[in-house]
Amino acid sequence: MSDMEMFSDVIDNLPVLARENPDSVKERITGLFFDFLELSHIYDSAIEVVKTYLNILDSEFKVKFQRNPIHSIESRLKSPQSIIGKLQKKELPITPESARKNLLDIAGIRVTCCYISDIYSLVDMLCRRDDFTIIKKKDYIKKPKPSGYRSYHLIINVPVWLSSKKEYAPVEIQIRTIAMDFWASLEHQLKYKPSASITPEISEELRECAEKIAETDIQMQKIFNEINDLD
Ligand code: GTP
Ligand code: MG
Repeated sequence: MSDMEMFSDVIDNLPVLARENPDSVKERITGLFFDFLELSHIYDSAIEVVKTYLNILDSEFKVKFQRNPIHSIESRLKSPQSIIGKLQKKELPITPESARKNLLDIAGIRVTCCYISDIYSLVDMLCRRDDFTIIKKKDYIKKPKPSGYRSYHLIINVPVWLSSKKEYAPVEIQIRTIAMDFWASLEHQLKYKPSASITPEISEELRECAEKIAETDIQMQKIFNEINDLD
């Protein structure tokens, strides 16, 4: 199935369109498809802007301090289909404007770092750029979620220079240590398995695992500081 066909499939079933005549629906679907394609391009470019900056910071650290603070960078872009699905679920208008206004997680980047201090260094550097506007900042390391989840979340409005205009797109950045990522990936897998029945006891066990991992992260940071004479 082509992207356009998949897109039509999703749009075809929208109740708002069911009442219209088929020709005008077809025209609107085609129009919307290209609008969403343009939207995706802007968000994808915003991801590239942030990734490039993160890679520059990582290589600068390597030059100056002979080590890389970043262990990995992953990114994902919500597909037009899932953007529409989310707008539908929230009972919001199905338009690119509505997506831009209401959804802040269309573009996502996940950065894993070696040490907790690397996370805060990266956050500082991202926040210092005067062309980046911070929309939201949440420190789930200082204040973990009840599940035990730890990570630093930032949503940044990123400028994208196109051929004839400048556009902005919000990018959600999750920054965490390798250890925090280990827990988050496994916990997500366990919880979102269709057959999973998560009892309060299991949730508590998972939270305990997160605590142990957090202790290890702190200990590793201590060792790193000792070796590098940072205390
Ligand atoms: P809100 O203002 O509450 O929406 O905060 P937020 O947007 O910073 O966090 P939200 O709960 O919306 O989660 C955003 C993303 O963080 C999710 O899509 C997950 O990737 C991740 N996340 C949040 N909580 C958990 C958790 O308990 N476990 C795992 N594995 N991931 C989580
Ligand atoms: Mg959220």
